[in-house]
This record gives sequence, structure tokens and C-alpha cells, in this order.
Amino acid sequence: MLLEVKKLSIEFHDHDVPERVVNKLDMELEAGDILGIVGESGSGKSMTAMAIAGLLRRHDMKTEGEILFEGEELLHAKRDTLRQYQGNDISIVFQEPMTSLNPVKRIGWQVEESLRIHRPDMSKDERYRRAIEVLTDVELENPEIVYKKYPHELSGGMRQRVMIASAMICEPKLLIADEPTTALDVTIQLQIVKLLQRLNREKHTAILFISHDLSLVKRLCSKIVVMHNGNMVETGTTEEIFHNPKMDYTKELLRAIPRLEKIVF
Ligand SMILES: Nc1ncnc2c1ncn2[C@@H]1O[C@H](COP(=O)(O)OP(=O)(O)O)[C@@H](O)[C@H]1O
Ligand SMILES: [Mg+2]
Repeated sequence: MLLEVKKLSIEFHDHDVPERVVNKLDMELEAGDILGIVGESGSGKSMTAMAIAGLLRRHDMKTEGEILFEGEELLHAKRDTLRQYQGNDISIVFQEPMTSLNPVKRIGWQVEESLRIHRPDMSKDERYRRAIEVLTDVELENPEIVYKKYPHELSGGMRQRVMIASAMICEPKLLIADEPTTALDVTIQLQIVKLLQRLNREKHTAILFISHDLSLVKRLCSKIVVMHNGNMVETGTTEEIFHNPKMDYTKELLRAIPRLEKIVF
């Protein structure tokens, strides 16, 4: 198993009363597979994603349980251990690429970041070649030109492709995509989902795809975890969740998909 989350709980302790935002969550993701996490806003999806990516700030929260990546426990691992994984074996892409990109640095420099950290022996030329390769992989036209641009010179869809390129540059085993298409137009959303699908097929990158959009999850994922108020409500194959949902909450979520989308997907 590539990723095993066991009884993951996350509590904020920044107020008088602790707030539990993830409660004893269990889930598994096999190498090369695509798992979806769905649930309305505030259900704990991003907190789960951040915990797996090793990005939770530790001082004002308490975590319990285990996050095993290829058998190694990461939830309570040392920072040095986490850094070996971040951007290397495990990468994350967020909803709003503009806030993840540095506005005053050229795209190429930013895409190469994980190489500078994890492949220190690579020469400048090798890094450049790899950056162009990965910008090409995410289907950006004229990658040499994109390489020299600044974030504000690109469209939202192009910026999200750049973020995916940065995340893929070290060929991670796990890509976490937290609402990667939510800020984009519907047509661009579909393009990004197709891109993730292709990258998964060609590079065998496992993907944890987080979304409140069930129609996109249905297209992309083979298994689904439904979350609500920090709890896992239901889990199963995409087929099971869509055609034979067991829990009322899941049924409600499915009913909320607009009719037109049901026909299209
Ligand atoms: N700094 C914080 N302090 C207290 N609660 C927080 C903080 N950040 C997020 N939360 C709460 O954690 C819960 C889960 O948030 P999140 O994982 O971002 O949900 P989702 O991604 O599913 O929309 C929400 O109820 C949110 O209000
Ligand atoms: Mg979120």
C-alpha cells in the first residue's frame, strides 16, 4: 500500500474549546491509483490533505493516528524526514495557483524549485531540460516561452498547469490535488482533469483528488471517500458510491448534482 491513513484525528487548540476537524479517519491509496475525497466545504478535506503533505502547523493543533507512506510514519515524523518527501515523493497542488506562485519570480525558476532541493547534483542545463520536459508534459504550448514568463502573464488554467508541472518535476509517487479546478471555468476544469488522468496513466502517479464536485470525481477516481464534519461517512468504489450509495448523506450529495451534468457525465 502506498498510503495508509489510520485513525487520523486533527484538533485545533487555538481557542478555549478544542475543535476537532478530522475524526478518526481511515483511508488507503494503492500505488498508481486515484482516490477521491468528496464532501461539502468545511468537512476536513484540506486538513487531511495538509496532514498527508506534512504541512500542518504543529504549534496550535493536536494530531492523533498514523499516516504511513510506503510503511513509514509521517504524521509525527521529524521535519527533516518530512522534507525528504515533500516535493519529491509527495507533492501537493492547491486550488488557487496565484497564491502558491511567487509573483516576482519567473515560471522556470519556480518549476525547478524541487529539483534544487532534491536533486542538488543536477547542473543548471539539466534542470532547464527537465523543466521544459515537464512543462511540455502538462501540455503548455511554447514551454521555452512560458519558462521565462511571470505568473501574472499567464491565464488561470496555464498557472494551474504550471503548478502541476512543479509538483511533477521530481516524479512523485503521490500527487495530492486539493480542489485544483475549483477556481477555473468549466471547460478548463475538464482539461485539467483529463491532464491528471493522462499523467496518472503515463507516469503511474497515484492521485488523491479532493473536490466538492462529484461529477469531476466520478470521471477521474476509482475509489471515493465521502467526508462530512470531519468524519468519513462512506467509502467505496466510484461505481458503488454512485450507483449504490448506502448513507443518506451520500444520497443527498448525489441528488445535489445538477441534472444536466448527470447527463453529460
Ligand atoms: N485555523 C483554524 N482554526 C480553527 N478551525 C479551523 C482553522 N482552519 C480551518 N478550520 C476548520 O477546520 C474545518 C475543516 O476545514 P477544511 O479541512 O479546510 O475543510 P474543507 O477543505 O473540507 O472545506 C472547518 O470547519 C474549518 O472551519
Ligand atoms: Mg478545502
